[in-house]
Amino acid sequence: MKKDLLCLLDLEPQDFVTLFERALSLKARYQKGIFDSLLAGKTLGLIFDKKSTRTRIAFETAMIQMGGHSIYMSTQDTQISRNEPAKDTARVLSRYIDCLAMRTFDHALVEEFAQSSTIPVINALTDAFHPCQILSDIMTVIEHKGGYENVRIAWVGDGNNVANSWVNAAVVLGLDLIVACPDSHHIKPDIIAASGADTKKNIVFTNDPKEAVKGADVVYTDVWASMGEEDQLEGRLKTFEGFQVNEKLLKGAKDDCLVLHCLPAHRGEEISESVFEAQNAAFWDQAENKRHMHKAILERLILS
Ligand code: CP
Ligand code: NVA
Repeated sequence: MKKDLLCLLDLEPQDFVTLFERALSLKARYQKGIFDSLLAGKTLGLIFDKKSTRTRIAFETAMIQMGGHSIYMSTQDTQISRNEPAKDTARVLSRYIDCLAMRTFDHALVEEFAQSSTIPVINALTDAFHPCQILSDIMTVIEHKGGYENVRIAWVGDGNNVANSWVNAAVVLGLDLIVACPDSHHIKPDIIAASGADTKKNIVFTNDPKEAVKGADVVYTDVWASMGEEDQLEGRLKTFEGFQVNEKLLKGAKDDCLVLHCLPAHRGEEISESVFEAQNAAFWDQAENKRHMHKAILERLILS
């Protein structure tokens, strides 16, 4: 049966481990100039309803470097924008391409595509989750911290799609995760209940950013207004006061604390300019690792 990757709860712990090992190995091979044409003759379709720099280019370059091809489709350019039903589009695309990566608003749409397709469907970001991002971010944690066990990870900011995927990863892998968001923008109860995070001792929810960063090995933040929420930014700037990752807040974290951000970053909002520039080494690793992780994901889904 074909596999999809819509949400990290779809994966077993061993699947994570296999993906990390494979992505790290593909990165090492790439650095030696070795390319594996494992996806020769295969085509990835990308349907994107939202903007993207990293995810799109990482998927497209991953396919090229593995000997395959990709076709990018803005929703506006397809008959989806003229109300062709998702299930019909999914069945048609299944006759042309070998895998579909989708970036859209409503997570239910990605699920509908997955249900109606005979090809694997990958969630390249929805309002609810960003699973591929967290897979490549944990790969970055492994590179910088030597692993993810006994690594204290603090999320500071909005309880958004990226935060939700961190919660899911923490449930499956038993990560030491503390999530600090304003009460009004915390992880939604249905996301917590669906993941089972409320029953896990390794996951803590708070509204206090100082509590979250205390003794943290990794501090992660993301924009305060995600794509589709831009009109709420003004109000959110007030709500998120005190949640900026800046030098003062990081005083509570470990001295060698790694600051991560999925990017794009809004300096002066969720992260200060000085922290962004001082701690920035890992941001570009995170961005690069998306390509290596996407290769591992594509190989797993297309060739299995
Ligand atoms: N991190 C991330 O998903 O970036 P893009 O929006 O540029 O794809
Ligand atoms: N939370 C952000 C992530 C962007 C990669 C958004 O959804 O816009």
